[in-house]
Amino acid sequence: MATTQQQLHGSVVKFLSGAPKKMLINGEWVASASGKTFETVNPATGEVIVKVYEADKEDIDRAVKAARAAFEGPWRKFSHYQRQQLLLKLADLIEKNAEEFAQLETLDNGKPIRESMNVDVPATIEHFRYYAGWATKIHGETLPVSAGNFLTYTLREPVGVVGQIIPWNFPLLMAAWKIAAALACGNCVVLKPAEQTPLTALRLAELIMEAGIPAGVVNVCPGFGPTAGAALSGHMDVDKVAFTGEYTTGREIIKASAGNLKRVSLELGGKSPNVIFKDGDLETALKGCIGSVFFNQGQVCCAGTRLFVEKSIYEDFVGKLSDKVKSIKLGHGLNPETQMGPLVSDDQLKRVTSYLEIGKKEGAKAMCGGDRAKESDLQKGYFVQPTVFADVNNKMRVAQEEIFGPVVSAIPFKDVDDAVFQGNETTYGLAAGVWTSDVKKAHRVARSLKAGTVWVNCYNVFDPCTPFGGYKQSGYGREGGIHALELYTQVKSVWINLD
Ligand code: NAI
Ligand code: MG
Repeated sequence: MATTQQQLHGSVVKFLSGAPKKMLINGEWVASASGKTFETVNPATGEVIVKVYEADKEDIDRAVKAARAAFEGPWRKFSHYQRQQLLLKLADLIEKNAEEFAQLETLDNGKPIRESMNVDVPATIEHFRYYAGWATKIHGETLPVSAGNFLTYTLREPVGVVGQIIPWNFPLLMAAWKIAAALACGNCVVLKPAEQTPLTALRLAELIMEAGIPAGVVNVCPGFGPTAGAALSGHMDVDKVAFTGEYTTGREIIKASAGNLKRVSLELGGKSPNVIFKDGDLETALKGCIGSVFFNQGQVCCAGTRLFVEKSIYEDFVGKLSDKVKSIKLGHGLNPETQMGPLVSDDQLKRVTSYLEIGKKEGAKAMCGGDRAKESDLQKGYFVQPTVFADVNNKMRVAQEEIFGPVVSAIPFKDVDDAVFQGNETTYGLAAGVWTSDVKKAHRVARSLKAGTVWVNCYNVFDPCTPFGGYKQSGYGREGGIHALELYTQVKSVWINLD
């Protein structure tokens, strides 16, 4: 910890010194009702960063009450314009503290500092500004009814109290995706960050208060899934739950929501096909493949983990890919040279290494990687070698199950139909990539793949204005763009009798 401390911003050290970290309920920093805490760990070293108070049912209940009171009380009185100004102010505050957020994210999650600094934090700021824009543009319609002499119009109203349960792969950005759209639409929020990575959400909560967002509008309660998460998704006074995480957890959320029929939106996993045609710009495609799989240590729901390569170039392409992947620089996230950091947790390390063994047993050939990192300075952390599996067929477990680590399975295909058939041969449908210089082929494949996002001659590009979400078992509902407004508003028809 000593060496790490030296690298840290003064304000990060200060943030970490106030331990155990309290949760935000009704504008106040409070301990858990039970007094219980949990430890959050630096995945590069396995060392405890800080203790955090652990929310349980009782704390969630308090937070929901606070959110309800804020929703029925002060928050309703804020105009659309005032909500916009608060979101813009929050974005400015995050920008002012960008470096601090990046360090905190890297410390807690492990990701390379160049990624937290260049992706997570700026995307978070952009997201708040984008939805600040929407706050003043949400409105109903006047309807040309034929039923008689009526003035009939719609109101687009907030849903109410929203429970938001987020994962650990983009802790700050996922908090932004959830909170920004909800507040723009006038809702109040109880956010449960992932137990592995609670820190940036707590720091964000401090800035939410500093921005002047009223007490109770946003409550942030770190805790575990089966306790705090289940309490939130099952709460009878929560109107909607928004979830990002594993498919099996999504099913639990749906079951828990049945009590009061709360609305549910789910952004679940993926096993996304990335299809390389021989007529594509192969140099760019190689870079795109690397980004699509190894960004964020492969802990990305839309990662292009099933790499389909046209038969005639398969060997050559996969060989070149593994040569490049071998040179990815593994290291501690705070080191500015690092290109790939550790996985988020010991659990995740066990999961990914077990899939490496499964793949080898199934007959996949590790062209590079295939094991835990061997370097002595990486032994204490959760580092795994970036891995390219060749000789994979689409039926193998490594081709069908979400590994959520730096592992790609390369599979040959014959022609367009074969690529589409195999690409769709999965229970998931989150994203897909296509690389070709043939425009007709690009459109044909983009239409035929069953996925919520298709990238052509690019991968992993994002913008707050694009809808993101899944087909099939990758979930339902769309975050991003105008589409997220659907998740966080409901429509009322008002009839005025003019006779
Ligand atoms: P998870 O789905 O269990 O965790 C995500 C969030 O859900 C966390 O905040 C967790 O506390 C909460 N949660 C867990 N169980 C819950 C329950 N019964 N009720 C309410 N909330 C609950 O994912 P986990 O265990 O962290 O990771 C396991 C695998 O899930 C990963 O290896 C990966 O394959 C997948 N995953 C997918 C993500 C995505 O973005 N689609 C993100 C994180 C994980
Ligand atoms: Mg879990």
